[in-house]
Amino acid sequence: MILKPFMREGIMPLPVSFISTISKEGIRNIAPYSCIMPVLRPLDLICFASAEKRDTLINIRETGEFVINLPGIDFEEKVIPTAKMSAPEIDEYELAHLEEKPSQTIKAPGIQGCYAWMECRLEKEFKEANYSLVMGKVLRLEVKDEVLDDNHHLNPFAANPLMMTGSQKGMHFCTIRETNGFEPFAAMFPTGVDPVTASA
Ligand SMILES: Cc1cc2nc3c(=O)[nH]c(=O)nc-3n(C[C@H](O)[C@H](O)[C@H](O)COP(=O)(O)O)c2cc1C
Repeated sequence: MILKPFMREGIMPLPVSFISTISKEGIRNIAPYSCIMPVLRPLDLICFASAEKRDTLINIRETGEFVINLPGIDFEEKVIPTAKMSAPEIDEYELAHLEEKPSQTIKAPGIQGCYAWMECRLEKEFKEANYSLVMGKVLRLEVKDEVLDDNHHLNPFAANPLMMTGSQKGMHFCTIRETNGFEPFAAMFPTGVDPVTASA
């Protein structure tokens, strides 16, 4: 089967993150974002795609700050309240009954109850006619100890990350499971040494 535009989105499972920002007037905003990716290891930079008409994008342009909050599946019911278009003067923490988690490096707060928080500063915006790719510098990444194992590896059963696939009708929420496969990064290199870690 060949998938045409608008049938293609569902083929890639995507994380559901919540991006929290504040406006220059101090109004708190939250929006779910799934078109998001790290810019290579060691996750110093992260990029997401934003349509032009987003309060999130306006706030980031004005303040240069945002938090990427990673939720578990228990946040599924918060997706639609935060995704609904609401006036910029509406506080979306109050709207969605969410508690803020103060950030350490920026003014924009995170969201209590998520399992990880990336405090980001706007690094660069790649602007197109009706969307932008926003690149952020990850200033601080905090993760709940309970979701990590002894190797600092995310335990999918503990984190239950909220994810989605799409269909023609809408969003289907899901989470991940492990295959128990494992390969060290060094296995990719003929020398058996991982240059990213070696140079750190
Ligand atoms: C699961 C999910 C993922 C989404 N991902 C994106 C995305 O990657 N980029 C985007 O521009 N909008 C995305 N949206 C739509 C925005 O969340 C939505 O338009 C929201 O109202 C924007 O809020 P804001 O105007 O407060 O920024 C997504 C919505 C949902 C429900």
